[in-house]
Amino acid sequence: MFVSGNGSNLQALIDAGMSIALVVSNRKSAYGLARAQTAGIPTLYFPLKPYSDRGQSREDYDRDLAREVSVIQPDLIVLAGWMHVLSTAFLNQFPNKVINLHPALPGAFPGMNAIERAYRAYQDGTITHTGVTVHHVVPEVDAGPVIVQDVVPILMDDTLEDLEARVHEIEHRLLVKAVQML
Ligand code: GRF
Repeated sequence: MFVSGNGSNLQALIDAGMSIALVVSNRKSAYGLARAQTAGIPTLYFPLKPYSDRGQSREDYDRDLAREVSVIQPDLIVLAGWMHVLSTAFLNQFPNKVINLHPALPGAFPGMNAIERAYRAYQDGTITHTGVTVHHVVPEVDAGPVIVQDVVPILMDDTLEDLEARVHEIEHRLLVKAVQML
């Protein structure tokens, strides 16, 4: 499982009794690493900075990361809040095994701050609801064949925090479902 932040989705998989062999983070301060340690799951902190400092490319980083991860021969690699776009240097090592959680409907609001952008779009009258998607990973951000998706309603008096909480709750359920399916 790959995380960069809070790791509430990691927690959902832990709580659902999933067997997780390794938690990888590109951020040392990711709370997901602490969650993994508490659950007794091995962790790997793998930062990009040494690569950029040495003038190496993201592909170099991705290749080395793939090498580290391939040691455990994972059945599935779950990206949840992993803030690094993986290139084919990584993806080609794990065909059909890398999945991502996107806090919006397929094709909608790719990239950062998807929930906030959906909230603004609702206020502008452009959308009436948002959603959550779990999909296979391709080099394009938050795109790729959909595994499961669900609609998340937006209510008229929602604050951004209300919507975030609703999206996260559905994410936790949907991610467990996708991993169970696969
Ligand atoms: C989730 O909303 C996920 O969809 C997005 O980043 C967030 C990660 O949350 N890509 P957490 O770290 O699992 O709590």
